[in-house]
Amino acid sequence: MRVQVVDHPLVAHKLTVLRDAKTESPTFRRLADELVTLLAYEATRGARVEPQEISTPVATTTGVKLASPKPLVVPILRAGLGMLDGMTRLLPTAEVGFLGMVRDEETLQASTYAHRLPDDLSGRQCYVLDPMLATGGTLVAAIRYLFEIGATDVTAVCLLAAPEGLDVVTSSFGADAPITVVTAAVDERLDENGYIVPGLGDAGDRLYGVV
Ligand code: URA
Repeated sequence: MRVQVVDHPLVAHKLTVLRDAKTESPTFRRLADELVTLLAYEATRGARVEPQEISTPVATTTGVKLASPKPLVVPILRAGLGMLDGMTRLLPTAEVGFLGMVRDEETLQASTYAHRLPDDLSGRQCYVLDPMLATGGTLVAAIRYLFEIGATDVTAVCLLAAPEGLDVVTSSFGADAPITVVTAAVDERLDENGYIVPGLGDAGDRLYGVV
């Protein structure tokens, strides 16, 4: 597994405003969207392309286009939805699948309550959107599901990650697994409730309110 922390002043600035407890939902949503677009730029660095002949107004030349099959973007409901527009802005031809996962707040175990994905992900580059890589339970369950239906290459885009969560993903799939985690920061630790410290609180609640 590869972990890429995107080191950029705009990423650090937007993340700081997201962390601030005084930042209200409308600003939080806008900044999360902008931050994901910056993370998406790095997350798609390995996107597969194939040659494409084109004519400019002056001459013909060979450029590239995204290779088939189309990449698949998979937001994990509900908080991952707040990352979807930021990701598809850079990958407008991607298809979008959905995974609904919920974490039991006592056991911290993740389970799937809904999914809408292609039957076969062979050959697809898959981008999972999960804002908070905390205990790792949700991301491990999501990646396991994608591997089961044929994915061979998964990139997780996370606003924040905790060292404990990264360790769980590595120990679940092995250090050589074809998994990349792209994040704006790896924070200090988890607290006793499974929240990332210093973190930014509950990402779903901050995006959508406490419902
Ligand atoms: N989920 C969140 O939304 N925030 C955390 O800090 C951990 C998990």
